[in-house]
Amino acid sequence: MKLPSALQDALNAQIKNELQAHYNYLGMSAHFEQTAYLGFAKWMRLQSQEEYGHAMKLYDYLRERNATIELQTIDAPKTSYDCGPVEIFEITLKQEQGVTQQINDLYELALNQKDYATLQFLTWFLQEQVEEENTVSDIIDRLRLASDNTAGLLRLDDEAGRRAAQGGGRAKA
Ligand SMILES: [Fe+2]
Ligand SMILES: [Fe+2]
Repeated sequence: MKLPSALQDALNAQIKNELQAHYNYLGMSAHFEQTAYLGFAKWMRLQSQEEYGHAMKLYDYLRERNATIELQTIDAPKTSYDCGPVEIFEITLKQEQGVTQQINDLYELALNQKDYATLQFLTWFLQEQVEEENTVSDIIDRLRLASDNTAGLLRLDDEAGRRAAQGGGRAKA
């Protein structure tokens, strides 16, 4: 079955959205590299790689469906923030909530177009968004608890760095 053109456009737009997230996280990583929080720098770098992986999953799906792949312009991300880790992770959560909305919209479109293969394909992304929002919320909760306690913040940074090093990147304790 040919991929409906509205769905093809929306999936191409999502490649861009995931690459934008990839680039935004890389910018956050670059920011943390210039601070004492080298663990968060590693975490953001790994997160950035994951987003690249999401973009490629969509890319490969379009390829398998013999659809046209269109690569769109992404914006330069911020590489410097005038705020602490809590605020940066809050921005991260907002970004993930935005992506969840994008995936939900894609799902709805696939449903309206009766493209059941795409619906099936998108379930992975729905689950992934639940995990990502949950992971980032947990980090925010713990950062808020540590508040201005330097030792506590550095401990969380260290933990984030070790998770990144293990290749998980996630708070799957
Ligand atoms: Fe993603
Ligand atoms: Fe994400």
